[in-house]
Amino acid sequence: MVDLLLGLQWGDEGKGKIVDVLTKNYDIIARFQGGPNAGHTLIFDGNKHVLHTIPSGIFHPKAKNVVGNGVVIDPVILQKELQNLKNHQINFKETLFLSRKAHIILPTHRLLDAASETSKGKAKIGSTLKGIGPTYMDKTGRNGLRVGDLELPNWKEKYRALTEKHLRMLNFFNVDIKYNLSELENEFFDAITTLKELSFIDSEDWMFKAIKSKKTILAEGAQGSLLDIDFGTYPYVTSSNTIAAGACTGLGVAPNRIKEVFGIFKAYTTRVGSGPFPTELFDDVGKTMAKVGHEFGATTGRPRRCGWLDLVALKYAVEINGVTRLMMMKADVLSGFKTIKIATSYNYKGTEIKHLPYNIEPENVTVNYTEFKGWDEDLTNMKTASELPKNLLDYITFIENETGVPIHIVSVGPDRKQTIQR
Ligand code: GDP
Ligand code: IMO
Ligand code: MG
Repeated sequence: MVDLLLGLQWGDEGKGKIVDVLTKNYDIIARFQGGPNAGHTLIFDGNKHVLHTIPSGIFHPKAKNVVGNGVVIDPVILQKELQNLKNHQINFKETLFLSRKAHIILPTHRLLDAASETSKGKAKIGSTLKGIGPTYMDKTGRNGLRVGDLELPNWKEKYRALTEKHLRMLNFFNVDIKYNLSELENEFFDAITTLKELSFIDSEDWMFKAIKSKKTILAEGAQGSLLDIDFGTYPYVTSSNTIAAGACTGLGVAPNRIKEVFGIFKAYTTRVGSGPFPTELFDDVGKTMAKVGHEFGATTGRPRRCGWLDLVALKYAVEINGVTRLMMMKADVLSGFKTIKIATSYNYKGTEIKHLPYNIEPENVTVNYTEFKGWDEDLTNMKTASELPKNLLDYITFIENETGVPIHIVSVGPDRKQTIQR
């Protein structure tokens, strides 16, 4: 059977940390969508690692890690990730596998991403500029270069044809993007050599066999449900299905093979990039969250926008994913606030609603909050649920009652060990 772990907000919920914590219970960890727009942070033994492409089980010597067909891979970024593993004496030769059907991000995909964003001006998406959108466009447009192509003698011809198309497309955007193609290509071809040293697999067949032989599998989501291409805050979204269904298409796993769906959320909300964010705070409270929570993007270093927990959006994400267990992250960051708020409904076109409407731009939506008493205790050294302050437990119970799903893990710090199971 396959369990899923998915972000329920706008990404950066702490997926990497929890996948690392849970890996001891699994034989296989598999990424199914997204690419190096993801930045998954793991902290243990005094070291911090940020993974972009590689699943977060890689630091456990026995777990096998699969990059599924739904993922888009930038060889240049993957090469850097592999170097970090080598620096830490992590042997990934036997434990890292790439799907032949995963698509490859070309240097010109990144240029197209930059050109598209620049041409949008103020309406830009706030992309991580990793070439994600253009690579998925080539995938659905049936032009993409896949990992399996690298085993064919003529793959460079495919590469060349696609690159030339991209260069022509770049001319359509009336913007000035500076680049040195030969430098980019040298870096790319060098990284392809490294990538070719990894094991390529027919990942769907590999997964069928793993499931048949009763291996335990955890699928690791990237981004979050509100960034889903269909169900997120379109157009301010990413280009893949980040929700539970994405694990089926991104790994070749049938829906009836899925058992638990772990939904992970911050005790508050953050968003990096543009787009609507109804509970966003522009005052000192928001600034304090950003400061205490070190809210800077793991991939781009951009400051993350912060606000209160949005239960309207959370319930939507719980429904769309079929979440069976919740995990609440960064509870420690809320210590010290006198009052804590949760968005429990919106005012939308003059009526109070409790579902996420088509349009949540600020001109359409204002937020109604339920208030809770805060707590002052420092949570970061707590080890058991019985130590958690009463006011936090009230906050937790309210969320459980509203969503109808138990909160199974409360995270009280970035380290692997700062994790309370309930
Ligand atoms: P991901 O993309 O979902 O894996 O999340 P990121 O790694 O991008 O962002 C989560 C950030 O919060 C990282 O810097 C983590 O080290 C940190 N983090 C994770 N859990 C906790 C927690 O419970 N408390 C605090 N203070 N930080 C946490
Ligand atoms: P993890 O897996 C947070 C956001 C970008 C931008 C939008 C589109 O670390 O949670 P893209 O690069 O996909 O074209 O960007 O999506 N975004 C993320 N925000 N966490 C992520 O991944 C993100 N991946 C993309 O900031 O708003
Ligand atoms: Mg992240």
